[in-house]
Amino acid sequence: MDLLKTSTPEEFIATSVSYLTDAILEAQQGGKTAVIGLSGGSTPKPVYQKLSEEKTINWKRVQFFLIDERYVPTDHADSNTRMIREALLCHPGADAALLAPDTSLPLPECIADYDKKIAALKPDLVVLGMGQDGHIASLFPPVLPEAFGPASVIHTTTESFAVRDRISVTFPVLENASSRLFLITGVEKIALLEKVQDGNQDASLFPASVLMDERTTWIVG
Ligand code: 6PG
Repeated sequence: MDLLKTSTPEEFIATSVSYLTDAILEAQQGGKTAVIGLSGGSTPKPVYQKLSEEKTINWKRVQFFLIDERYVPTDHADSNTRMIREALLCHPGADAALLAPDTSLPLPECIADYDKKIAALKPDLVVLGMGQDGHIASLFPPVLPEAFGPASVIHTTTESFAVRDRISVTFPVLENASSRLFLITGVEKIALLEKVQDGNQDASLFPASVLMDERTTWIVG
């Protein structure tokens, strides 16, 4: 895995935007559509805001999909769909397409519907964060056995963060991505990354440890 350390919030955002822009342009080579999975949370928001202004990208050939969602209406303050629409699907980025769970459906149907929608996608890149408890996507430690497949999308719960009921992609989706980008900031998460890097960690307690191969880059602020 690669580790890019940044020293200021501005450098963190610029490094992340530059990585994402290059990844999208590369995925679009030959006229292809770039397929990019997006996480929610607070860390990527300023990165998405800046990325949306990028004029070198043909946004009509970008297919975003959500890595995870909170089970709330899409106009709710905690909705990842809402955050991504407001931060990224604006400026030139407004031309991109977004696949997201339909949270107006009852939860089991919402999961089945989203699973069907994303099962055939081959992600060029997935953007991930990591919580201070080690969770990635909405896979909270100790991670459920279902997180290892075969479904692409599962229902998870958390008592520690906003919104208990979550919709999350599983490890097979994250493992299927051509590349993965983790965006983390703060000393606690940097200390956690050192534990993840250890190599002998229990995957259910440190889910990021499953993804520490040469296709993964961490940008740290
Ligand atoms: C979400 C996520 C989640 C996020 C981490 C880190 O919807 O919450 O996609 O996996 O990446 O919780 O979130 P912060 O960047 O807010 O710390």
